[in-house]
Amino acid sequence: MDWGMENRLSQLIQTDGHCMFLPIDHGYFQGPTRKLEQPGKTIEPLLPYADALFVTRGVLRSQVDPQNTKPIILRVSGGTSVVGQDLANEGIITSMEEAIRLNVSAVGISVFIGTEYEKQSLLNLAKLVDEGERYGIPVMAVTAVGKELEKRDARYLALCSRIAAELGARVVKTYWCENFEKVTTGCPVPVVIAGGPKVDTEREVFEFIYDGIQKGAIGQNLGRNIWQHKHPVAMIKALRTIIHEGANVDQAEEVYKENAK
Ligand code: 5RP
Repeated sequence: MDWGMENRLSQLIQTDGHCMFLPIDHGYFQGPTRKLEQPGKTIEPLLPYADALFVTRGVLRSQVDPQNTKPIILRVSGGTSVVGQDLANEGIITSMEEAIRLNVSAVGISVFIGTEYEKQSLLNLAKLVDEGERYGIPVMAVTAVGKELEKRDARYLALCSRIAAELGARVVKTYWCENFEKVTTGCPVPVVIAGGPKVDTEREVFEFIYDGIQKGAIGQNLGRNIWQHKHPVAMIKALRTIIHEGANVDQAEEVYKENAK
């Protein structure tokens, strides 16, 4: 692996082989998502516990202090909205030149397998990988968002993750599901667990993240279940113990309770 690629990946994936990404990219199709109306304020107390931020260039430039940040994964796919016709109809919205200018550690793009726009999104991924490999910038593929979330089973997510890896993604972000080992064993590159809509209890979050890690995921990329929670710092600290300290669900819950007082 080229030095630049290896160096960037090592900024994201820590020496223990695990990672805690904090996504705040939701506004690129959802607008001012609840608790993310002012992303700079939302991330301020959370940044110390994140290994990287997943963000668009607009929020990066306007809300993230370049002198006090974490490695950046730049969201470079988009061009659709929740009020438009189809979220799957994405294009590439940010050039590799801009990613280099912003000194990012990786770029992220969604793929929409099983939709009318499957081919388009996969060709976008392949083109981005060609450019990323040219400049030593890893590509993280984001699988199964929007309506595709309904198909959240191991067969579908394993299919999506494998295809993304085959097309050259260096990291794949996908949703947790039952039998998650089928997703990780069929995917030749590291898998990171995405979050999805906020669930009812913190324990549920700890359970699916713990299970995913036991079954081969290298880390997590959770947004709403952290920053929409009433105790976001307690949540991220507890999750960090699962990812980086080998904590189980009970131990994570203990950390949560101590910090939610
Ligand atoms: C949106 C994304 C988000 O980064 C991803 O969904 C993670 O955030 P959350 O945990 O809130 O679902 O890729 O397309």
